[in-house]
Amino acid sequence: MDAENTPPSPVLVLGATSLIGGFLLARLDAAGLEPMALSRQPPGDDVCWLEGDLSDPDLDEALPHAATVFSLSPIWLLPPALPALKAHGLTRLVAFSSTSRFTKQDSPEASERAVARALAEAEQQVEAFCAEHGVAWTILRPTLIYLEGRDGNVSRLAGLIRRFKVLPLSGRGEGLRQPVHAEDLAAGALAAAGAPAARDRAYDLTGGETLTYRVMAERIFAGLGRRPAILSLPPGLFRWLLTLARPFYPGATATMADRMAQDLTFDDAAARRDFGWSPRAFRPRF
Ligand SMILES: NC(=O)c1ccc[n+]([C@@H]2O[C@H](COP(=O)([O-])OP(=O)(O)OC[C@H]3O[C@@H](n4cnc5c(N)ncnc54)[C@H](OP(=O)(O)O)[C@@H]3O)[C@@H](O)[C@H]2O)c1
Repeated sequence: MDAENTPPSPVLVLGATSLIGGFLLARLDAAGLEPMALSRQPPGDDVCWLEGDLSDPDLDEALPHAATVFSLSPIWLLPPALPALKAHGLTRLVAFSSTSRFTKQDSPEASERAVARALAEAEQQVEAFCAEHGVAWTILRPTLIYLEGRDGNVSRLAGLIRRFKVLPLSGRGEGLRQPVHAEDLAAGALAAAGAPAARDRAYDLTGGETLTYRVMAERIFAGLGRRPAILSLPPGLFRWLLTLARPFYPGATATMADRMAQDLTFDDAAARRDFGWSPRAFRPRF
């Protein structure tokens, strides 16, 4: 990373224990940026960990001086923390939001609509604060994030396949998906932080392939070294099975079944153009 495209130091990472966090800390370290990392329960001493809670009214006391802040925690935690971050030197902010802002806004589930609203409102508040206080901002909205063995989407499906050998789908699973790897998002966040064209802009970040839910499931079987064993069930039967599975599959809802037929796709052309976004194809390995 040349000096011109290096974000200003010192660098602080919020949500550093998230799926993206470890990859981002490693890249910042490799770029000589010696990041600091915030967590409610710092996991170790390999980087400069700070203990802090973004919703703590005394957050101010936990914060270090930091010019660049990467926010990897839920974006709705960020607006109340911005005055304290600004007081500690913030000039460049890269914050993760989610394409759920769009995909869940008309969900039949009230809780999902509330998430979409919280994401949209937080994005607006971040933009307004930064514009008013001279902070250059970039908002990144990933689609479905995966990290083999750790995420709650792809890895959860892998866990179900390991356990039951067969994966039932609602209908033919024809809804389109663009799973994106956490490591690519770390690379994208760092590239965006150093790209002048990415200032004061929001981007949708998709994975390197658009595939049907069914093909995504087949790739997960392949990643486990297994031949695909997929059972297409009538949507009504699948919904009923999900209800039965709820105790073992927290968060399972009928809406999830219906969504398997829906396309959840976005365009990452602006990110490719402005900061060289170049995500990998979906070939997970477990
Ligand atoms: N998972 C997905 O498929 C997905 C899809 C699209 C967008 N995103 C977005 O991408 C980012 C990373 O996603 P993720 O799923 O890996 O992480 P996440 O579960 O949304 O967030 C977890 C992180 O937030 C931190 N955090 C939570 N509450 C906090 C608080 N009160 N104070 C300080 N830190 C707090 C946690 O740190 P500690 O527990 O260490 O304190 C942890 O590092 C998030 O912004 C998320 O909204 C996720």
